[in-house]
Amino acid sequence: MNSAESLHRFYSGFAGKYDLFMPWDQRIRRERRFFKYVLDANNVSSVLDCFCGTGFHVDMLSDMGYDVEGIDISPDMVGKAKENLKTKGYDSRVQQGDVKALENKKKYDCVLSMGNSLPHEFGDDNILRALKGMYGALNEGGTCVIHMENFDRLYEDREPFIPSMHRRDGRGTDTFIFAIEYYEKKVVFNILSVIERGGLPEFAVDTVEYYPLKTGRLRELLAEAGFQDIRSYEDFKMSPQGKEGTYDIIMVAKKQ
Ligand SMILES: C[S@@+](CC[C@H](N)C(=O)[O-])C[C@H]1O[C@@H](n2cnc3c(N)ncnc32)[C@H](O)[C@@H]1O
Repeated sequence: MNSAESLHRFYSGFAGKYDLFMPWDQRIRRERRFFKYVLDANNVSSVLDCFCGTGFHVDMLSDMGYDVEGIDISPDMVGKAKENLKTKGYDSRVQQGDVKALENKKKYDCVLSMGNSLPHEFGDDNILRALKGMYGALNEGGTCVIHMENFDRLYEDREPFIPSMHRRDGRGTDTFIFAIEYYEKKVVFNILSVIERGGLPEFAVDTVEYYPLKTGRLRELLAEAGFQDIRSYEDFKMSPQGKEGTYDIIMVAKKQ
């Protein structure tokens, strides 16, 4: 199975679970203030979320008053996003699409790759194609925001487990345990889930692979795609990268 097929297979099985395992309340607290600051400081009014997943940023940024659209390559994630966005009437803002084939379409003031999405592309060539797609979708003076895992740090520590997620509410219980395998050219996240509804637990293991794109290489590829003024942070408070050595990388770059 090639990496595109394995990505489709993962998200077709995981689309219904994605919102159960993602700590959305924590992400809103961390990201809302960051986006308000960065988007307003860069005079952004239109945004394209290039890996929109289940529609979180389309929803949050639309509520904040920006003109937001989303694309995602997975029909199952787009379906889930449309379902999530329907009550607010934002569902027509998301479409299926490949970030690598964005050139020459509509232009935006800001493009996003949030939640460790870019490393779904395997190999520097595909990462560069994705970055060129994002660059091509930007107006002159536009801003690009990329958020992903800090693979330098992950490979330094090689932690086999990262903190698990457990939640119990009126609907039932959701538990997710992550086990990570580190290889030279890929990192494999195995996600064990136990989802209980009405006393019946459902067990599954979903596996997703990422390209362990190091920060220095991302910086070089951003420059090769045409981006300038590339800044990197290690959290959404915009602390300079390297201060604490967190597991997050946030890059903000400009199309001049
Ligand atoms: C980890 S999810 C992130 C979703 C969301 N951005 C977030 O912050 O939670 C990655 C998403 O990227 C999408 N994706 C992967 N490759 C893509 C591509 N070439 N073009 C568009 N979307 C892609 C996947 O289908 C998936 O929904």
